[in-house]
Amino acid sequence: MQEANWVRGLQNIFMIFAALKNKLTVSSRMNRKQKHPRESFVSMTELVLPNDTNTLNNLMGGRLMHWMDIVSAIAGQKHCGSIVVTASVDNISFRSPIRLGDVVTLRARATRAFNSSVEIRIDVDAENIPEGRKIESNSAYFTFVAVDKNGHPVEIPEIVPETPEETELYNGALRRRQLRLILSGRMKPDEANELKSIFNIKE
Ligand SMILES: CC(C)(COP(=O)(O)OP(=O)(O)OC[C@H]1O[C@@H](n2cnc3c(N)ncnc32)[C@H](O)[C@@H]1OP(=O)(O)O)[C@@H](O)C(=O)NCCC(=O)NCCS
Repeated sequence: MQEANWVRGLQNIFMIFAALKNKLTVSSRMNRKQKHPRESFVSMTELVLPNDTNTLNNLMGGRLMHWMDIVSAIAGQKHCGSIVVTASVDNISFRSPIRLGDVVTLRARATRAFNSSVEIRIDVDAENIPEGRKIESNSAYFTFVAVDKNGHPVEIPEIVPETPEETELYNGALRRRQLRLILSGRMKPDEANELKSIFNIKE
């Protein structure tokens, strides 16, 4: 009898701890800072010089990816207000070549934040000013993780979209996150509910 009371007492203590932990998590979520995508917006302009090109005088893909990494890391820092590291880069395809002498503009902004990670979309355009030629080259998504000075992930502000385009990017971000987590072996395909819903896969 005495033993049963002792076990019940212990169970009550565990329940109080669980409730407290839940309350703390909820209140930390409620207190989480909110930011808009425009607050992380970054635009960067580069001129394609001979050292940036391949033997066909076209911009090398690796140089463009380097610029994309920089512009999106700055957008990530602006959103997170901390150091960020590149966690992943989604598929990048190059639609049209960018040529020697073209002016390349890269625009980046945060689309959605999770706990410590933020998805950044980068849009790239190129223009040859003397020829009056413009090309919309490509777009890509990079994921950054905010870390402290010891490299440990830290919580970041939430994102509140303001425009229909930002809302669309925000909504699609969960699906893109699940896909990249599956590809990196961090999520099992059967846990990806958002992805399953777009392919209409039943449980
Ligand atoms: C990114 C890094 C900090 C994650 O550390 P970790 O110990 O695995 O941390 P966690 O498992 O807690 O994950 C932290 C976040 O990273 C995200 N993440 C980790 N790997 C990811 C990947 N491949 N793609 C997308 N997100 C990823 C997780 O989903 C999680 O996001 P959330 O907090 O928003 O839910 C760590 O792997 C790292 O330092 N990598 C090297 C980064 C680097 O040097 N980049 C430059 C390229 S050389």
